[in-house]
Amino acid sequence: MRIRIVYYSWQGHTRTVATALAELLGAELQRIEAVSESGMFGKAMRAMLGMRAAIRPLDASLGDVDHLIVATPVWAQKVPPYVNEYLAGLVNCSGKPFSVLVEMKGSGAESAIRAVRDRLTKKGMRFVSSAVTLEDEVDAGTYGRKIEEFAKAILQ
Ligand SMILES: Cc1cc2nc3c(=O)[nH]c(=O)nc-3n(C[C@H](O)[C@H](O)[C@H](O)COP(=O)(O)O)c2cc1C
Repeated sequence: MRIRIVYYSWQGHTRTVATALAELLGAELQRIEAVSESGMFGKAMRAMLGMRAAIRPLDASLGDVDHLIVATPVWAQKVPPYVNEYLAGLVNCSGKPFSVLVEMKGSGAESAIRAVRDRLTKKGMRFVSSAVTLEDEVDAGTYGRKIEEFAKAILQ
């Protein structure tokens, strides 16, 4: 099974979790990069409003991918505008399974997962599983068990 983990990370936490998960699953990693990072206020506002913002070119086709995992930080109880841009640009994705991993300080996981889930379901994709990691767990290196369970759910 070819699994692609696509992630956006501003301060490195999501990247740490996505990298560990990729090792666990033997998955490929793809990074969403902003063309330009706005200030904190702009970040929060754009996320809150579900807006999109430009990202660097990347392969947005799932033609030869069997399962997509979207790994994203929670911003304003939603997801960064760069993640929205990626999701909007996905092609050859209808009928494919996907899972969502959100990384956060402490609140808003459910609505962030819903934001990703709604966008991809509208594109004909099929939700499989989700997981939540906390900034403190990533800093302390204690998130391993969570991603092991997440990996199991994906491989089932
Ligand atoms: C603009 C902005 C908004 C955020 N909003 C939330 C939030 O609503 N809930 C939360 O728990 N954490 C929030 N955070 C914290 C991040 O989710 C957390 O620091 C996460 O670990 C960042 O991931 P990264 O290091 O991969 O960028 C926010 C961070 C930023 C920059």
